[in-house]
Amino acid sequence: MREADIDGLAAMDRKIFDRPWSRNAFVEELDAQGGQSFGLWYHHPDGEKHLGGYICFRVFLDEMHILRIAVAPSWRRQGIASLVLERSLRIAAEKEAKTALLEVRQSNTGALSLYTNFGFSEIGRRKGYYPESGDGEDALVLLKQLM
Ligand SMILES: CC(C)(COP(=O)(O)OP(=O)(O)OC[C@H]1O[C@@H](n2cnc3c(N)ncnc32)[C@H](O)[C@@H]1OP(=O)(O)O)[C@@H](O)C(=O)NCCC(=O)NCCS
Repeated sequence: MREADIDGLAAMDRKIFDRPWSRNAFVEELDAQGGQSFGLWYHHPDGEKHLGGYICFRVFLDEMHILRIAVAPSWRRQGIASLVLERSLRIAAEKEAKTALLEVRQSNTGALSLYTNFGFSEIGRRKGYYPESGDGEDALVLLKQLM
């Protein structure tokens, strides 16, 4: 990702997440220590380039933190998230990360199946982490051992 990509990225994030990141949050992520952000685009027959999916993560010391992963609705269930996740886990392992961590809504069964397929397992729970969901939905903290 480059700064020129951020408007498209932030627009997609607003469509997908209840708690979207601001444009500035994405810009800061590009400059963050250990930060990595990758996008995947496709060329529409109309000649336009469209963002199909993205991932943002950080590698700090021996931990990888996956902060964002999303795929455009019309591109889902075609292995895109698996592709970007697999490559990102490999990059983190090359940077000597020993574990990968992330947080996910307990109701996000699609994302949970994706992570479980990749060998992530629950190590904790943040109570009421998503206050915008009624009484406050819990976040599950998942971990995968990389080495
Ligand atoms: C979660 C998300 C990134 C998955 O992207 P994707 O490209 O559709 O995922 P993949 O095609 O790589 O799916 C791989 C496997 O994960 C599981 N999976 C993915 N989405 C699923 C869903 N909606 N329901 C059930 N299982 C699902 C399946 O096992 C799937 O394999 P299969 O299609 O062969 O059954 C996508 O649905 C998304 O952007 N959701 C909104 C944003 C979000 O929730 N991000 C995660 C925040 S923690």
